[in-house]
Amino acid sequence: MVALRLCRLDALLEGRALGFDPLHEGRDSVFALRHRQTVRVYRNSCPHLAVPLEYRKDRFLSADGQRIICYAHGAQFLPDSGECVHGPCRGQSLTALAWVEEDGWLLLPKAQLALWQA
Ligand code: FES
Repeated sequence: MVALRLCRLDALLEGRALGFDPLHEGRDSVFALRHRQTVRVYRNSCPHLAVPLEYRKDRFLSADGQRIICYAHGAQFLPDSGECVHGPCRGQSLTALAWVEEDGWLLLPKAQLALWQA
């Protein structure tokens, strides 16, 4: 399996998120978060207008860490599922990406990136 290293898993703190630019596009196209001790990785694209979610580097979550926020129009998503529960894309979901762990690293299989490059 060909995979890209995103970060050390212990760099993802509870209630925090980090953005990554695995394709070297000059923007963070994916982000990872830790919520209730579980790590999730999502594509950084709002289902409303397909724009990035964060308002500045690594600011994907509400202050209490309980929601993913799209700062364009305030959509709120559940960290566990990526489902939008408030805002213009209510009922739609962020694209969750499968990841793997290897020696304490968070890896993103390249096949996951191919999902939206086709
Ligand atoms: S682009 Fe995300 S809520 Fe509108």
